[in-house]
Amino acid sequence: MDGPSGPVTGLFCHCSSMSELARKKLIVALDVDSAERALYLFEALSDAAGVFKIGMQLFTATGPDIVRQIVSRGGRVFLDLKYHDIPNTVAMAAIEATRLGVSLFNIHASGGREMMQRTADAVAEVATRENLAKPKILGVTVLTSTDQETLKQNGVEEEPAMVVSRLASLAQASGLDGVVASAQEIKIVRESIAHPDFLIVTPGIRAASGEAHDQRRTMTATEAIRAGADYLVIGRPILATADPVRAARDFVDEIDQALLTSTQPDFAEQSRTQSVQ
Ligand code: C5P
Repeated sequence: MDGPSGPVTGLFCHCSSMSELARKKLIVALDVDSAERALYLFEALSDAAGVFKIGMQLFTATGPDIVRQIVSRGGRVFLDLKYHDIPNTVAMAAIEATRLGVSLFNIHASGGREMMQRTADAVAEVATRENLAKPKILGVTVLTSTDQETLKQNGVEEEPAMVVSRLASLAQASGLDGVVASAQEIKIVRESIAHPDFLIVTPGIRAASGEAHDQRRTMTATEAIRAGADYLVIGRPILATADPVRAARDFVDEIDQALLTSTQPDFAEQSRTQSVQ
């Protein structure tokens, strides 16, 4: 990124060390209820995490100004509002997300091809016309709190992994840059999509001995990185501890170790070229 609100165009991470690469892969979910708390955590954690996720709770409590404030302080923001509406409405919201300067935002892949394509086209067009950085657009596949039983309640008989695979392929064919997917489905996404730059952002990360909370399809950071996740989204296992900075650093160390010992031959090198700048 060139400046505080600069472009997200560069795909090359000039990481001086593996731990810098590990830091860039950690997205901290700022799931708090006030701008003061969010900014406090952002300042405290900005050396330990690469991206800060602003989701429904914080956005609803504070409005878009919290995004502007973090971006103006040099932070990278993942706007996690999971847009899902008629194609025109989602495309217009996505234009505003682009104008806010977010690095990543997401839309529900189950919204369908037209919704995703119109959004991708609108973002590319406004970024060019207004000389803005083009954010990465992620498709939400199946929420990590959703299991087979939840899918059944919605009339879906397929296994979560099959639904994830289908939606990920649709997202890629519709021009999206990647998906949000549980660690347990990383392998199937990589198998379904040949493009190595297709991003996989993975929530539902828990320490081996940690509490699952409402997440169902969880994995450790080590397992997720080894499976090929590009970014890990971690909220409560960092924020709900007595020492969030320490907890974040512990996750970065774990990611670092997982990268160093990754069994995927070209993964470390490939990862260097995939960081959102
Ligand atoms: O506290 P925890 O680590 O479970 O937080 C995970 C974060 O990732 C939450 O903000 C949640 O909304 C978000 N998320 C998720 N599953 C998705 C997409 C986003 O858990 N599929």
